[in-house]
Amino acid sequence: MTGGTPTGGIRFDEVSVVYGGNTVLDSLDLTVEPGEVMALLGPSGSGKTTALRAVAGFVRPAAGRVFIGGRDVTALPPHRRGIGMVVQQYALFPHMRVADNVAFGLKAQKLVAKGEIAGRVAEALEMTGMAAYARRYPRELSGGQQQRVAIARALAIRPGVLLLDEPLSALDAQLRSGMLTELARLHRELPDVSILYVTHDQVEALTLADRIAVMDRARLRDCGTPQELYRRPRTEFTASFVGNANLLPVRVGPGYVSFGGTALSVATDSVAVGASATLCVRPHLVGLGDGPNALRGRIAEVQWRGSTHRLYVEVDGHAVKADVRELRETPALGDEVTLHFASEDAVLLGAGVGDG
Ligand SMILES: Nc1ncnc2c1ncn2[C@@H]1O[C@H](COP(=O)(O)OP(=O)(O)OP(=O)(O)O)[C@@H](O)[C@H]1O
Ligand SMILES: [Mg+2]
Repeated sequence: MTGGTPTGGIRFDEVSVVYGGNTVLDSLDLTVEPGEVMALLGPSGSGKTTALRAVAGFVRPAAGRVFIGGRDVTALPPHRRGIGMVVQQYALFPHMRVADNVAFGLKAQKLVAKGEIAGRVAEALEMTGMAAYARRYPRELSGGQQQRVAIARALAIRPGVLLLDEPLSALDAQLRSGMLTELARLHRELPDVSILYVTHDQVEALTLADRIAVMDRARLRDCGTPQELYRRPRTEFTASFVGNANLLPVRVGPGYVSFGGTALSVATDSVAVGASATLCVRPHLVGLGDGPNALRGRIAEVQWRGSTHRLYVEVDGHAVKADVRELRETPALGDEVTLHFASEDAVLLGAGVGDG
């Protein structure tokens, strides 16, 4: 949006939140740059919504400080923080028409002169493709349309920071993918707005985010670009949470690792010789047939997934997953097969890194 947009940027400085003696957010240190989309990804109960509410001002940190646009807002009430927020249940006012829902924040916060409100509302509805629905009531809209109105309402105040808490989780898969494209477009139109996007859907995180912060049990476990976390995860938790992974228990030798009775050639610089470690190989990087780092095993399960087959191959008592291009001839259960992967496609994860 043009003119008057406060610059975004969010900083959590050692922010802790405690509910009834339980620390549900533990010393969070995280910076979202102006204009950046940061996804907060993590399992249920890991503290994602709590982190968002700390930015919004709905929860008071027990320790630490929150900054928006470089300003310490820790003691400011929510309506003075210049944020727009969208939650999973759109929370539109049922008795108000779409336009009044969108105008609500502007009126309540007395942010703009009365004469400007209609223009702001029209602008926000335009951006979300809802201009034609201004006179409708929420009950006359589909779920996806209601969510657009909720986003329009958040945008109407021209926030420097947009907080989205699982905004698409109530929508069906097809609508969700369409809204993802819309959100990406919106972000291009609002290049200065920082977006903190809570999700436990890794596709959303990988698609939208400039960086992903991975949360687990009240703590930040990892943070990086989607590519970094996917290609070079630093922890087992990240490897298993961002994308699908084979996590094979191995013992480290000089320049190789042994997996069961098989020696695999992978870079081992990060882990001491003799240590136990985990080898992470993405299923789509495992090939069927002979090749480097060959693993022999028996087919335990075959799943057809349209363009690919997912094979589960039992190797030394472990199920190794391989996603291969759709096979003309499907192997039978119990068939002996060979899998392989390129050394550079494997990541060795030492025990204990980033855990605990
Ligand atoms: N108002 C509250 N009072 C007490 N405990 C709370 C409150 N809100 C959240 N919690 C607890 O804090 C922890 C973190 O909750 P939070 O809502 O941040 O998780 P989340 O990562 O958003 O999970 P989900 O993916 O299920 O939405 C949970 O254990 C939850 O039970
Ligand atoms: Mg939540």
